[in-house]
Amino acid sequence: MTVKIILTEPNKILRQISQPVEHVGENEQRLMDDMLETMYAAKGIGLAAIQIGFPKRIIVIDLAKDQTEKNPMYFINPIVHNKDTEQTTYEEGCLSVPGQFAEIARPKKIEIEYLDYHGEKKILKAEGLLATCIQHEMDHLEGILFIDYLSKLKKSMIIKKLSKQKIKPERIVV
Ligand code: NI
Repeated sequence: MTVKIILTEPNKILRQISQPVEHVGENEQRLMDDMLETMYAAKGIGLAAIQIGFPKRIIVIDLAKDQTEKNPMYFINPIVHNKDTEQTTYEEGCLSVPGQFAEIARPKKIEIEYLDYHGEKKILKAEGLLATCIQHEMDHLEGILFIDYLSKLKKSMIIKKLSKQKIKPERIVV
């Protein structure tokens, strides 16, 4: 397993629409392993393949973080079947939008269909944090970031900040 570089906004690749996976084989499983390793290293709870530069409809999630035993979840070609009309709000961040957070309201419960790590079709009813996390990651598959839900002004301020951070030279201690 390899820790990959996570792309950060602004980056055109993050705005690409990811393509469906036709076959879940060794390459896809290796990609999922790398995604998980990358996500753990960055202390995130979800990651989409596009965030490490692969425009494939693959998501990994682990809500267990460090507190409990690892509980990795893999979602390939996820489709939402049902969305709750009731919404819930979390303060969201994103590994591709480092250091920025905003309150985002999303449907509280969803039902999704997807393929698992072994390519088997699964249906899952999710709510609360898991539902929000899945929806955030599914947005990545469409090239959407959580900052797209903010006002134009807020969004442009965040992008400006991130652009400045990128120009900063790397700090080294020699
Ligand atoms: Ni994200």
